[in-house]
Amino acid sequence: MTRRPTIFLCTMIACCSLMIGSQAAQAADREKLLSDPGVYATFAAFKVDPEWWQLEKGARDAAVAAVKDVVRKHGEHVAIETYLLRGLSEHADLLFRTHATDMMHNQSFLVDLMGTTFGTHLVNTSTFNGMTKKATYVPNFPDETKAALKTPVDPGSKPYAIVIPIRKDAAWWLMSQETRTRLMKEHTDAALPYLKTVKRKLYHSNGLDDVDFITYFETENLADFNSLILALQQVKENQHNRRFGNPTLLGTVHSLDEVLDLLSR
Ligand code: HEM
Repeated sequence: MTRRPTIFLCTMIACCSLMIGSQAAQAADREKLLSDPGVYATFAAFKVDPEWWQLEKGARDAAVAAVKDVVRKHGEHVAIETYLLRGLSEHADLLFRTHATDMMHNQSFLVDLMGTTFGTHLVNTSTFNGMTKKATYVPNFPDETKAALKTPVDPGSKPYAIVIPIRKDAAWWLMSQETRTRLMKEHTDAALPYLKTVKRKLYHSNGLDDVDFITYFETENLADFNSLILALQQVKENQHNRRFGNPTLLGTVHSLDEVLDLLSR
């Protein structure tokens, strides 16, 4: 008689540890995708069309639930970050930043997303593709600069995200690696004071898009970010930026549930 509850309890414990184990494995993958070189990223910005707001609340709730299913379905291969741009940008209401070891996984997620009822109300206003790489210039920087670059970003929430696509001019790519390293050292020296308050990530887009780089930042301090851009506009490397932004996307970092909640009210 007493064996049944014991078996039930053991089964529950086994199931729970399996679930915790698989969640940990997924979280670990996400960490890797967000930090490894050789990872493909897609930034897809959307506007919500006016008809979406005419839908009844029940229909909007069902549509939002279907989006969550799509995100869950692709969670195994794709790390999906969401941002609210509405109110801060005329270009878009929301932004997805996806990372995967294969660009096709990003595409597959976005195609499924656009196929949902919510997706049919989304107008894709810009998309940027890029990949992460090991540092090109840092290995040839002096040791003190390398050490300074290891300064950790201050802990705490960074509610703002900024995406700036950049295209360099032909003269930049024609320069020797040595000259570019010297100019990037100047860029780095000007930017170092902002390491603690601005978290950054660089994506290489040559051949994958019309731009050369997608630069991505998170910060709590927009005044610092503004000063950082001004400092970088004063170094010679800036003369080689043929396109800077256009668009610059400024938004706030939110979980998918928060973004969908805000857009389905
Ligand atoms: C905390 C602020 C920043 C620091 C410390 C910083 C530092 C660096 C470093 C060390 C590199 C060289 C990476 C390598 O070796 O491959 C680099 C590259 C680059 N940074 Fe920054 N940066 C900062 C902010 C910015 C900002 C605000 C922008 C423009 C919006 C920017 C645009 C770029 C671009 C386009 C490259 C790639 C250049 C190339 O490979 O030709 N950076 N940055």
